[in-house]
Amino acid sequence: MSMLDFEISRSERPTPAAEREAVLADPGWGQHFTDHMVTIRYAAGKGWYDARLEPYGPIPMDPASQVFHYSQELFEGLKAYRQADGTIVTFRPYANAARMNRSARRMAMPEIPEQLFVDALELLVGTDREWVPTTDGYSLYLRPFMFATTRALGVNQPADEYMFVVIASPSGNYYARGIRPVSVWLSRDYTRAAPGGTGEAKTGGNYAASFAGQAQAVRNGCDQVVWLDAVEHRWVEEVGSMNLFFVYGAGDRPRLLTPALTGTLLPGITRDSMLKLAPDLGLPVEEGKISVDEWQAGCASGEITEVFGCGTAAVISPVGQVKGPDREWSIGDGEPGEISMRLREELIGIQYGARPDPYGWVH
Ligand code: COI
Repeated sequence: MSMLDFEISRSERPTPAAEREAVLADPGWGQHFTDHMVTIRYAAGKGWYDARLEPYGPIPMDPASQVFHYSQELFEGLKAYRQADGTIVTFRPYANAARMNRSARRMAMPEIPEQLFVDALELLVGTDREWVPTTDGYSLYLRPFMFATTRALGVNQPADEYMFVVIASPSGNYYARGIRPVSVWLSRDYTRAAPGGTGEAKTGGNYAASFAGQAQAVRNGCDQVVWLDAVEHRWVEEVGSMNLFFVYGAGDRPRLLTPALTGTLLPGITRDSMLKLAPDLGLPVEEGKISVDEWQAGCASGEITEVFGCGTAAVISPVGQVKGPDREWSIGDGEPGEISMRLREELIGIQYGARPDPYGWVH
């Protein structure tokens, strides 16, 4: 039971089944949306109100809404998966709710009760359940987001009115070319996040600020950008919009290292899941620090055998090539690494119900 009753107005012109099936056969990523959305409003002094399930469509906005000017915005991302028996689950939705609220505190935005967040997801997925793909590896990507709607240009205080929205997008594979190791560019000109900044909040501005770095990576022939720390430009933080893992695979006791959450990294839920899953598969994980020099030297000595990025969208994305203004090296033989692929299989197995879920992640 939710603390708010949702007013339900179903679409009078839902996508015809044949059209929907055509989309689901080849959904791409983030290009198609289901027939409905959830919206909930917030006002200071009143709290969350006016919860609705409505037909998917444009949201009328005042041009002076604060989000357009000062970017008070947050988002989340998670997926709904079709199980072999036809039922639908989501993965760790309360973890997304908790993270949205941590982001909200940093951005001086209101927190949303975790149960209301999850109720909104359940209502949308339940209504649009036919949009959850049945194809292996496909899913329904859920995008909850929140933004400031107060009509005011004053910048002395946060907005006092907000809107929370959930939309859903059938998704195929994030990388159209399938899983193959990506090349990454060590960005020296751009930083993603600085100490005291908003790096650990999932706010749109962090992504807006990343596009120039990503474009520079592409200009240098790379797929993704590697973000280094803002102070010394030496410590490795993230890749693209993903967290990074380094596999020390030489010898008979492989182990993993991932950059610690110092406040400038996004606390990924896939990252957190890896921290629990990997040790249970006999792969200890250390949360620590790794410099560009250590990364290069580790690959040269053969100690580091695999590197991968991880996130909800792409799950696990192996890194095969590293390039910077003054250096270049490769990791592995151009094929996805064995440990990276094993972790991917295990996680996906839990998400699709092919493997048991001892962690209680599946909802
Ligand atoms: C991820 O899921 O890895 C993300 O960071 C979301 C991305 C599509 C912005």
